Amino acid sequence: MNRGIFITFEGIEGSGKTTQGRLLAQTLKNEGFKVFYTYEPGDTLAGRYIREILLNSEIKITPLCELLLYFADRAQHIEEKIKPHLEAGFIVICDRFTDSTIVYQGYVRGISIDLIEELNKKLFSQFIPDLTVLLDCSASIGLGRNKKANKKDRFEMETLSFHEKVREGYLELAKINKERFFVLDATESINVIAEKIYKKVKSLII
Ligand SMILES: Nc1ncnc2c1ncn2[C@@H]1O[C@H](COP(=O)(O)OP(=O)(O)O)[C@@H](O)[C@H]1O
Ligand SMILES: [Mg+2]
Repeated sequence: MNRGIFITFEGIEGSGKTTQGRLLAQTLKNEGFKVFYTYEPGDTLAGRYIREILLNSEIKITPLCELLLYFADRAQHIEEKIKPHLEAGFIVICDRFTDSTIVYQGYVRGISIDLIEELNKKLFSQFIPDLTVLLDCSASIGLGRNKKANKKDRFEMETLSFHEKVREGYLELAKINKERFFVLDATESINVIAEKIYKKVKSLII
């Protein structure tokens, strides 16, 4: 497939994914690139309803239900948005993707990682990111930043040790997938991180 570039942003809550994803999108747009910025879960109409269930801590769901809702959201998201934009040659920047599912539902919630990877391979094997930016910082720093924003969804309600496990899961995944992961210290300044990401992305484009 002659297609655009697929870049995902991963990391714990408050690590700076949205900040950096949006900055990168804007910088590349300013340079004249066709850029499509998106996020998971919830960036389609069906996805917005799915997201509501996923993030509302008052709706009790099992880990398997949670996993399959993420897959449902992704199926819709890929078909409606990611695939057409990649086919049209866009740089697609996605805030969270399959790695989030492997880490949160697999490493942390304890669903078989083999099962998640098998499902992913069967359903979405064409949509492995060209680059995954992992913003790495401790849970206390990430959550500390988000506390200011007063977020209270299903994941923000979890304990510090939950988020430390998420961090470990990501680092493990980055070790296994060295060719596409770009791990950055998320405690550096927003501009320093943005510059490093920009340079990395430019090296992929040219
Ligand atoms: N490198 C950084 N240093 C300090 N604060 C940051 C940095 N990156 C992001 N922030 C701030 O931390 C908060 C969470 O950032 P955000 O991009 O929303 O994280 P995420 O999308 O990973 O949850 C925001 O208020 C943002 O301005
Ligand atoms: Mg965010």
